[in-house]
Amino acid sequence: MAIRNILTYPDKFLRQTAKPVTAFNDDLQVLIDDMIETMYDEPGVGLAAVQIGSDLSVIVYDVTQTEGERRAEALVNPKIVFREGSVLSENEGCLSVPDFRSDVKRDAHIRVEGLDRHGNPVDIDADEFLAIVLQHEIDHLNGVLFIDRISSLKREMYKRKRKKQLRQQT
Ligand code: NI
Repeated sequence: MAIRNILTYPDKFLRQTAKPVTAFNDDLQVLIDDMIETMYDEPGVGLAAVQIGSDLSVIVYDVTQTEGERRAEALVNPKIVFREGSVLSENEGCLSVPDFRSDVKRDAHIRVEGLDRHGNPVDIDADEFLAIVLQHEIDHLNGVLFIDRISSLKREMYKRKRKKQLRQQT
């Protein structure tokens, strides 16, 4: 396993639509293990493959909030097949959007269909925190970042801040 570099806004790679996984081979297992290790290293509660430079439709997440009780899950080719209600995701953040958090409107209850890392069908009924995390990660697979779901005023503020930050780094 290896910790991989996380792409950050405004990297254009983050804007593409992920490709469905068709081969459940060793390369896929390595990708998933690297994603899990990278997620824990940051630390984050979820990660999409696109964030480490892979164009495959894969996400990993771990919503266990207790230290020492890790349970990472991987979902391949996930699709939201049902959504209901509305919830405010408070102070949402993203490893690809450094130094910024915002409230985001999300669906309160979703149903996700996909495959596990070995290609077996999975479906998940999610609400609360898990529903938010899954929506955030599945957004990544469609090239969408959480800053696309906030007011344009807030988004412009972040863009300016980020530009300034990047100028200072070079
Ligand atoms: Ni993210």
